[in-house]
Amino acid sequence: MKRIAVFTSGGDAPGMNACIRAVVRGAVYHDIEVFGIRRGYNGMINGDIFQMTSHSVSNIVQRGGTILKSARSKEFMTPEGRQRAHEQLQKFGIEGLVAIGGNGTFTGATLFFDEFGIPTVGAPGTIDNDLYGTDYTIGFDTAVNTALEAIDKIRDTADSHDRIFLIEVMGRDSGYIAIQSGIAGGAELVMVPEVLTPISEVVKTLQAGFNRSKSSSIVVVAEGEEEGSAAEVAEKISKLIEGELDMRVTTLGHIQRGGIPTAYDRILASRLGLGALEGLLNGEKNVMAGVINNELVYTPFRDTIRLPKPINEDLLRMVKILSV
Ligand code: F6P
Repeated sequence: MKRIAVFTSGGDAPGMNACIRAVVRGAVYHDIEVFGIRRGYNGMINGDIFQMTSHSVSNIVQRGGTILKSARSKEFMTPEGRQRAHEQLQKFGIEGLVAIGGNGTFTGATLFFDEFGIPTVGAPGTIDNDLYGTDYTIGFDTAVNTALEAIDKIRDTADSHDRIFLIEVMGRDSGYIAIQSGIAGGAELVMVPEVLTPISEVVKTLQAGFNRSKSSSIVVVAEGEEEGSAAEVAEKISKLIEGELDMRVTTLGHIQRGGIPTAYDRILASRLGLGALEGLLNGEKNVMAGVINNELVYTPFRDTIRLPKPINEDLLRMVKILSV
């Protein structure tokens, strides 16, 4: 393989730039020509493809977002879109791809390989940490720290005003950000999509807190939680608790996706970027590079797409115990 391309796709995540840098610098080191594709699969379809050098990735290891930009491409999910993308790759003579993204990205790459035989190796880039085949995804650690900073600040107000705060964090269908930011922020309760927490139990926990003279409480709610959004949970709680409740809802939203990546994310991203590139050069295809127990491993896309990544329920038990 003499010419490859790298792109970012799906939601951006802090550390994606460090990953791009590792792919590009790794390619230069191994004497491979490397191209960047802008805006994920949309750029592939539109031929938004340019040659990269070592200098193209100078001074980006510390930057959030992605210099290659990102998109969720509907067109690539159609056979016509993939046909156009293939024509563009042929035009540029690109023989293999490194895709930095999540499950949607890897689903597209699998379809593309089945139709045109272009091999892809993935690097897991998403704040959600919802990918089977790696302990952590690029961006997750930074997102947890961003959420934590917000929780710490909100706790000041919760404490000063004797309030209950419901704080909604991102994660799509996964509770990883909620659990980790909740534990680190000393939340009284964490609600995640993987384990149903009935409203009656939330009320019981809050009331038990009041009975122990707790004057404020923080509940971290993952966005995909079964009882609904944090606002809906708040409404359900107020219906079940008698009397006036001083309760507020804060939805953290996209601040969790941006910002300077932590050292952990930069190192993980560098390792996964180089791991994905070297895997591709060594003949790996349709696999995602991941780190499990500190070892670099490759997991087939079909598993990262299909298999759930279970949360550690013992951590939820810990939240309960530590909030007595
Ligand atoms: O996958 C990352 C993520 O931020 C999820 O946590 C969230 O559900 C989704 O993307 C939001 O997507 P968008 O930026 O398209 O609104």
